[in-house]
Amino acid sequence: MKVTGKEEEGESLAGVRREIQRVTEEILKLTAERMRLSREVGRIKEAKEIPVEDIEVEKRLRAAVKDKSLELGIDQDFALSLLNLLIAQSVDIQRDTVFKSDVSPTTISQWARRLEEKGRKIIHLETGEPDFPTPNPVIDALKTAVDDGHTGYNDAVGVQPLREAVAKHLNRKLGTDLTYDEVLITHGARFGLYLALSTTLKPGGGALLFEPSYPAYRRIVDLFEGRPIAVRATLEDSWTPDIGAVKEALDERPDVAILNYPSNPTGKVLDTGNFQAVVERAARNGVPVISDEVYRDYSFKQCPSILEYPGCRSVMLSSFSKSYSMTGFRIGYAVASKDDIAQMSCLQGLALTCIPEFIQRAAIKALECEDELTANVEKMRKRIKYAAKLLDRLPATFYPPDGGLYLFPRIDQPGFDSEKFASSLLEKHGVAVTPGTAFGNYRNYFRISLCQPEEQLKEAFEIMEDALK
Ligand SMILES: Cc1ncc(COP(=O)(O)O)c(C=O)c1O
Repeated sequence: MKVTGKEEEGESLAGVRREIQRVTEEILKLTAERMRLSREVGRIKEAKEIPVEDIEVEKRLRAAVKDKSLELGIDQDFALSLLNLLIAQSVDIQRDTVFKSDVSPTTISQWARRLEEKGRKIIHLETGEPDFPTPNPVIDALKTAVDDGHTGYNDAVGVQPLREAVAKHLNRKLGTDLTYDEVLITHGARFGLYLALSTTLKPGGGALLFEPSYPAYRRIVDLFEGRPIAVRATLEDSWTPDIGAVKEALDERPDVAILNYPSNPTGKVLDTGNFQAVVERAARNGVPVISDEVYRDYSFKQCPSILEYPGCRSVMLSSFSKSYSMTGFRIGYAVASKDDIAQMSCLQGLALTCIPEFIQRAAIKALECEDELTANVEKMRKRIKYAAKLLDRLPATFYPPDGGLYLFPRIDQPGFDSEKFASSLLEKHGVAVTPGTAFGNYRNYFRISLCQPEEQLKEAFEIMEDALK
């Protein structure tokens, strides 16, 4: 039978498709081989007690991929995204071997609550939930808003009076010139973070973070299949990250960089010169910055804000949780360009519809509670001083916090394992703290939240002192 032109065309298309399938299977075979090698690396690292992530190795690999993609005529951004996915997979594989940690402030606090339900007395030093009462005017405003019938749907971006109040509040504090349309009211800073990452991070894209860091950063980056690029700070350097390394990492143009000062867990506030150096380098490379400033009110020294650098694309996150003891209200805000606000608001609308209006009305009142805020900050400053003295009796080294609600000591005992310590402290002695591994590879550190009155702190520190003998 004679083959017509159309059939010939069909034959050759089918042939090319078969070839594509073969090449795809080859790629998978090579991926399986790469996974096998990753497991091997994991075992070697475990034996040598080397941390899983190595930013230098990643940098070399990235440079090699850039060269190779140029040689092969492959789009560099595509090649780098592919590499990021492969690195993320290697890290996951190696974590299963070397650095398996399921601890986070949430898991520890769930465990503490279970013990409490069984009748145990627990001293909670694991979560950053201020023990100060929510200001009375806020509670009254909440009740009035309900009585006045503010109980229906509202705009996903938030109600205008609160957006205006936030802009005014920030302008007063920072000397900025914000308008309400640069403000999005969020379901707490945590959801703000989710929204900010969803608008900046692509699958396979890099997210620069500064470790030790709030665990949610990594988790949300993982959720979006991004690649966390961690610059580790050390206690020896007073938790100042290596600014040279940060600049180099920014020159690699990650999708986004996440700052958090005062830092959870270290209490570090980056000085203005370093903060500016980081932000300017990010701006030069077109890297958007998410600046999580939920502890900014609890700064005991001048703390820079990203809003003071309008030349950089940024999302500033803040919250009513810590400043006004409103953790259960679940309300925070994001400040960004109108375009970014529109994108984040759209996603918030899809996910949550809106933030309850009576809660937003109560939050307007919170911004007027300056006296309560000042009193809370003063109490926390005193408490940190008090707890730092108690900590001196432990075999510990720590950085005296510039702000925040926490102490992050290193225990100077050979082989100290904060996961084992935190488990036994909770189970045997009823004191809940968070192991350093929740914040990165900081196994000989743990975090103490100071959200309890001084008597409780004294009792807990005596227990810790005994446990560490
Ligand atoms: C650094 C940091 N960002 C964000 C949050 C979340 O705050 P919110 O209660 O507003 O969601 C926390 C809570 O502990 C935090 O420590």
